Amino acid sequence: MTHQKVLVLDFGGQYNQLIARRVRDLKVYCELVSCEMSAEKIKAEAPIGLIFTGGPNSVYDENAPQIEKEILSLGIPVLGICYGGQLIAHTLGGKVEHAPASEYGRREFSFVKQSPLSEDLPEKSVCWMSHTDRVTALPDGFETLASTQSCPITIFGNLPKKIYGVQFHPEVVHSVCGNKILENFLYKVCGAKGDWTMKNFAQEQIRKIREKVGDGRVLCAMSGGVDSAVAATLVHKAVGDKLTCVFVDHGLHRKDEPEEVMRVFRDGLGMNLIKADAGERFLARLSGVTDPERKRRIIGEEFIKVFEEEAKKIGAVDFLVQGTIYPDVIESGKGKSAVIKSHHNVGGLPSVVDFKEIIEPLRDLFKDEVRKVGSELGLSDGIVWRQPCPGPALAIRIMGEVTREKLETLRDADAIFREEIKNAGLEREIWQYFAVLTDSKTVGVQGDFRTYENVIALRAITSVDAMTADWARIPFDVLEKVSTRITNEVKHANRIVYDITSKPPATIEWE
Ligand code: XMP
Repeated sequence: MTHQKVLVLDFGGQYNQLIARRVRDLKVYCELVSCEMSAEKIKAEAPIGLIFTGGPNSVYDENAPQIEKEILSLGIPVLGICYGGQLIAHTLGGKVEHAPASEYGRREFSFVKQSPLSEDLPEKSVCWMSHTDRVTALPDGFETLASTQSCPITIFGNLPKKIYGVQFHPEVVHSVCGNKILENFLYKVCGAKGDWTMKNFAQEQIRKIREKVGDGRVLCAMSGGVDSAVAATLVHKAVGDKLTCVFVDHGLHRKDEPEEVMRVFRDGLGMNLIKADAGERFLARLSGVTDPERKRRIIGEEFIKVFEEEAKKIGAVDFLVQGTIYPDVIESGKGKSAVIKSHHNVGGLPSVVDFKEIIEPLRDLFKDEVRKVGSELGLSDGIVWRQPCPGPALAIRIMGEVTREKLETLRDADAIFREEIKNAGLEREIWQYFAVLTDSKTVGVQGDFRTYENVIALRAITSVDAMTADWARIPFDVLEKVSTRITNEVKHANRIVYDITSKPPATIEWE
């Protein structure tokens, strides 16, 4: 089964991934592609619609990205957002000018003429503006469809040609009817059928993987994270025992994680899953090491060595599964090839495994879609909603040298924090939450004794992509409970602090 497709032409705006996610959420498959894509190529892809994103330029800038005019006469519906809309007007002979003052934030607008975009919407609504330029004269055949007080041409369109422009950002949540406008564009203008569902996706992938693998053998590195778990489960459903997974237990995982991975995937799903117990090796190599980048390097190298040894035992395979997801593909060069992020632990695997081809079943999916596929496949919320954990795990959450004793302290403190966040029902709002074992010791009094013990920091952040983050406003009573429990239940911790720094200027992790 092939599904309908929308192409989102990327003009460099900050919300572009968000547009693509919104379209997918509306059950229409879309791809973010370069704004330089030619009319011929677009035609060959046969999309049901095009969306031009916003971007930082003014259409009159010397190096401002332009489009081939022909794209607008292919008969494919187009929605231009902000810069994308201005570009449509400019390309077809309208006029774009600097507004007397930049407009940022909420604005009320009214529809002045009905169109497919305004179906089922109230006459007035609120939108989110962020622009300096705006369209001041429309090309022939276009008319104004909505206005704000300060921006007369807020939505415009050529109804017979199915080409529309909006001055605001329908993709951000502050644009109250923005999602409905996108939905109307997709369903009322482009004729979308809503055939992009994770159930269809999973079935299609399973069929494709089965066909591709045939009688071949497949190897996968399972980290226990969402992406590798879902990728492995998809492949397992497709080829069963032909898949072997290797889980490297580096001894730096959070509490009970290795046991859970084995319980769910080997015992529960019956996967052919090998656990390499390498905790001692990692600890030995980390002995005396305090520099965070050296710790990362050592863990990365050791991980690859352990994996290589396991792979050698298995022998040559035909395929290697990787849990690459769409944001990795976009970040590494506009959909051309997936280069695993340099800090990612599995980055070096392809060079040590004897295989013919890589299988990346999730390379078209955003993180929320990966989670949905996981649920479709029957994985529990505990796995599907697991928060991201860095490859080096607790080693970069222990400031300074990693020791067995420190690991134990941090593991116990972190488990309490996670448990209380779960009890408070905050798991899904908070992107990441974890404890850090600082390298400071402070004086305390516990019982009748003065103590000189470690400071534990709690870090919890909200984010959409980990590029920027804000510290989570966890209710004080939850923090109080965590603090009391850690100081009572965990050895070698007598003081708890809460990190109230956003990213930037801080990073999410402490090392
Ligand atoms: P920072 O700390 O840079 O983290 O704000 C951004 C995101 O990346 C994760 N992170 C890592 N992930 N290996 C990984 O696989 C690493 O060395 C690493 N360092 C940071 C971090 O948890 C956050 O989600």
